[in-house]
Amino acid sequence: MSRSDFDAIRAFVHDAFGIALSPAKMPLLKMRLRSVVQSRGLANAQEYVAQVLSNPSADAVGELADAITTNHTFFWRESAHFELLVDRLLQEHKTKNKLVPRPLLRIWCAAASTGQEPYTLAAAVRIALGPDLRRWDTGVLATDISARALDAARVGIFTEAEAAPLPDLYRQTMFQDFEGGVRVRDELRKDVTFRRLNLLTPFRFKQSLDIVFCRNVMIYFDEPTKRDLTERIAAALRPGGFLVVGLSESLGSTPPGLRAIAPGVLQKLGGA
Ligand SMILES: C[S@@+](CC[C@H](N)C(=O)[O-])C[C@H]1O[C@@H](n2cnc3c(N)ncnc32)[C@H](O)[C@@H]1O
Repeated sequence: MSRSDFDAIRAFVHDAFGIALSPAKMPLLKMRLRSVVQSRGLANAQEYVAQVLSNPSADAVGELADAITTNHTFFWRESAHFELLVDRLLQEHKTKNKLVPRPLLRIWCAAASTGQEPYTLAAAVRIALGPDLRRWDTGVLATDISARALDAARVGIFTEAEAAPLPDLYRQTMFQDFEGGVRVRDELRKDVTFRRLNLLTPFRFKQSLDIVFCRNVMIYFDEPTKRDLTERIAAALRPGGFLVVGLSESLGSTPPGLRAIAPGVLQKLGGA
């Protein structure tokens, strides 16, 4: 791949997905595109770049997203966020909704990858609400740009080693044994809706959101993209709702309309 091909695809990736590829990523990109080049029966990455840029169909863009995204995730990642969710955020929400006949709880996992994070969120909701769950209308929306990652998430089968970091209560809530590994229980699977969504494109929700986990994805975005996304997520939250970002993700100063309440956890101002 020539430097000009790399620059062309880099600009395309930045515009389409917000992902900023540094020149140091050129060998990695070349390696990741190898299978796409082969599956299209092309001679080299140069032909691929020319083809995609001249006809950026939805399929081609999806294929490129699958090739360039890093879907690295694991169970119980940055576990302090799940602990805070169960011990504090959901307890406060429960108290506030004590007298509501059918309270709503809407959670969005905005970079769901292969499912470890959204299934853990669904388990956290079951653990926090306990037997009172029946009274509630709850749901976890799990989105990602990578169709390949979402396909794996929907299957919901993990190895013992993958499930190992989870505390016992989460394991029991989430899984049944399956062929030497584990499989997400049917009832928990129903708690999670998977959809493909590019965070750079506009999103709208029927109801305002209570909690958004958008962790370890903004690291790929430049500052204006991060700022814009944070503002759009904040607009989708109810007053008093929470945005959770990765522990290593700096949003610079606290974004307007939000206040930091714990590392990586921001609350929308205005809640009672
Ligand atoms: C490193 S994983 C993080 C997964 C999980 N949130 C965690 O913290 O373990 C980043 C995910 O963000 C997704 N992603 C990257 N750019 C995106 C975009 N523009 N819109 C939606 N998802 C995106 C990738 O496909 C990948 O699955």
